[in-house]
Amino acid sequence: MITCDVSIARSFLDDETYIKSRGRADFGYQQLVTKKGPGSEWLGWRDLLAKPNDAILQQIEEIAATIRKEADIFIVCGIGGSYLGAKAVIDALSPHFQNNGPEIIYSGHHIGGKYLEDLIAYIKAPKADGSAKSIYLNVISKSGSTLETALSFRAIRETMEGLYGEEANNRIICTTSQEGGILNQLIEKKGYKKFIIPGDIGGRFSVLTPVGLLPIAVAGINIQTLFYGAVSAYRKFDEDAEEVLEYTALRNALHEHGKTIDVISCFEPELKSFGGWIQQLMGESEGKEGKGIFPSVAAFSTDLHSLGQFIQQGRRSLLETFIVVDKPFSNISVTEMEGDDDSLNYLAGKTFHEINTKARIGTTQAHQEGDVPIITLTIDALNEENIGELIYFYELATGVFVYSLGVNPFNQPGVEDYKKAMYRLLGKK
Ligand code: PA5
Repeated sequence: MITCDVSIARSFLDDETYIKSRGRADFGYQQLVTKKGPGSEWLGWRDLLAKPNDAILQQIEEIAATIRKEADIFIVCGIGGSYLGAKAVIDALSPHFQNNGPEIIYSGHHIGGKYLEDLIAYIKAPKADGSAKSIYLNVISKSGSTLETALSFRAIRETMEGLYGEEANNRIICTTSQEGGILNQLIEKKGYKKFIIPGDIGGRFSVLTPVGLLPIAVAGINIQTLFYGAVSAYRKFDEDAEEVLEYTALRNALHEHGKTIDVISCFEPELKSFGGWIQQLMGESEGKEGKGIFPSVAAFSTDLHSLGQFIQQGRRSLLETFIVVDKPFSNISVTEMEGDDDSLNYLAGKTFHEINTKARIGTTQAHQEGDVPIITLTIDALNEENIGELIYFYELATGVFVYSLGVNPFNQPGVEDYKKAMYRLLGKK
């Protein structure tokens, strides 16, 4: 379950500002649900939850089960919306320092040559017992032509063909559009397995399609529970969207007030990648026409030792969104030590969750006193269902907020500019 507490942020606003922004939030919501706003042909991420397709979930689970049984390494090759959602969920719900199934490695999300070279060397190197590693690759690209992903895919499939010959084709799964694009031509030529990204869902809204769900299932996470968590959020907010509207109204009012940066902060390191997914979802959706709040990501308390000074006393252009997990998911506590040579016995018996909670409350008080408006989103526990709910909350809140600014949330015309300049310099025909 999610709760959204806007009381601190609200205390920074007078009634008149808030009421006007609430009107804009209501307008944004209407644009979205009545499909009357610009970009309404991209609302398939809602339809997906309105009419769940269990057959697809099952198909994904079946392929994932085979990969989990056979693979040592599963490479997820994609950029932006084609990998951030999967990474967010996998990092949130997987154990640290051990693989619950194949090792998951990301590629195709930059053009770093050393990374790719090291990755190729790593997959070619035999296991400790001398046998070859079993590699599976999921290339994910809606357009089928994104340079970062295509370059990495070329190098890895060549390596896999060198390792396995023709059998490499059975180890490559492509997630792309129904038709068009170079990837579809390769699928036809090589006979790769294929999952379809629905045409009415943009990359950053695609985590609950095969784009995100296949890697998530390969990581051993229950995609049924995750997906139906999002479905239950869809039904809840369809009946009563008050929490989303309040959140939107607050952000809209803070945007009007000159807040230009939203520091999306978690207190659990597991959720940092989830912040990265939110960052892309919001950044690519709202940053247009000279509008929007720049989404930045922080993991506390780590980043209190790097960004904390600025947040507390730097230029007052920030708001913060805290993503909080209420119930502990670890019971580790501080031990009592004889002699107390490090003077920590005053904390003996306390769990790390209790200490972390005090750190969060202390941070909230300090930052509020430092004039930073704070919105707090709390999930009661870190599990599939709540992460599913949180995904839909953010998708909906992003769509509504961006419409409240009078902008189309679902395109990204600015991203094309760097591509055009880069391709010109590279001499692409
Ligand atoms: O959200 C988006 O639409 C983008 O971030 C895309 O996901 C990203 O650019 C990758 O595009 P593609 O899946 O076509 O390779």
